[in-house]
Amino acid sequence: MRTEHFETLRPVCPVCKADSGQLNSLVIADVTQQEGTQIVQGVLHCTHGACQREFPVIDGVPLIIRNIRSYLSENAFQIALRDDLSPNLESLLGDCLGAGSTFDICRQHLSSYTWDHYADLDPQKEDGPPIPGSMVRVMHQGLDLADTHCSLAERSGPMVDIGCSVGRSTFALAERYRSLTLGVDLNFPMLRLASRLLRTGTVSYPRRRVGLVYDRREFHAPLPNAELVDFWACDAMALPFADGAFAAATSMNMLDCVASPVDFLGAMASVLGSGAPAVITCPYDWSISATPMECWIGGHSQRGPEGGASEPAFRRLLKQNASQSRKYLHLLAEKEVEWQVRVHSRSTMCYKSHLVLVQTEDGVSF
Ligand SMILES: C[S@@+](CC[C@H](N)C(=O)[O-])C[C@H]1O[C@@H](n2cnc3c(N)ncnc32)[C@H](O)[C@@H]1O
Ligand SMILES: [Zn+2]
Repeated sequence: MRTEHFETLRPVCPVCKADSGQLNSLVIADVTQQEGTQIVQGVLHCTHGACQREFPVIDGVPLIIRNIRSYLSENAFQIALRDDLSPNLESLLGDCLGAGSTFDICRQHLSSYTWDHYADLDPQKEDGPPIPGSMVRVMHQGLDLADTHCSLAERSGPMVDIGCSVGRSTFALAERYRSLTLGVDLNFPMLRLASRLLRTGTVSYPRRRVGLVYDRREFHAPLPNAELVDFWACDAMALPFADGAFAAATSMNMLDCVASPVDFLGAMASVLGSGAPAVITCPYDWSISATPMECWIGGHSQRGPEGGASEPAFRRLLKQNASQSRKYLHLLAEKEVEWQVRVHSRSTMCYKSHLVLVQTEDGVSF
């Protein structure tokens, strides 16, 4: 966690914000390991006397999450997982723990997303297609729209990349706009990889070949304006910031991964300043393991007027929010884009993702 990001973004206690609407600042209460201006291990405290919640900073990642106890118990394995094992021992562990284990799922996620985000910088290329970087190419298409429709390039202020995963989109935002940029996600192994990249300039990840066979890839990744980037663990549906803290937001392929897309859109609108743009993409790949069916945007009730399609349901939701919210997201432009996720060396999932450019507008005052 960079002290400059903490001081500029002034995170508030997510417990106080959710329970009483109070915006109580967090302070850095303890630093046990620091590298330059980056806190690697430490503790943040809520300043409110009746709350005094503590939030740890682990492996450079502050965990500013409302229900920190259940997050830690659900993610204890990922957080405590050591990363100093040789590739041989790691492979043996993978075989013993087996397919579908938490260890296996973490490696698969790291493989798929790190490959798409950073494999263009890996000197050891794989043979043949597909080409990495699909998400960042899509993001730039959205940012081109934001430059045209909202003069994003001329706006100043911090930017937030929500659901940043291993972080290449966050670096791409900082490179393009030279603004202080924050990537937030809830997946600790992915954030740990991104945070280590900030401190070491190196990407290290298991690239899946087939089955439980992974090759460890480690390479230097020079990323322009990396000093403007930081990565925090925050819930997209309960962002720990004051209203209007950010000048722009991106959220690539995560709307269908949250428990409540409506709460996420509301949280995003509230942390954006007036007239701030946001680029959102979503393949509408609904699954009940992430989102209860009642909360899907489309994807059910095909006998209704929208035939179960997600795109009109999303447009309707945005319009509906306009009449019910203090600040809402107004649709400016949309397009269909292609996004690929590499599963292993012989398999890639190809998605058609719906890209929308929205901008905050002031709505009903209560
Ligand atoms: C399908 S991945 C997309 C990752 C990346 N944006 C990309 O396009 O390559 C969805 C990401 O959203 C994150 N995510 C899911 N629910 C979240 C939440 N409530 N708050 C923050 N991040 C979340 C996941 O951990 C994952 O990294
Ligand atoms: Zn508090």
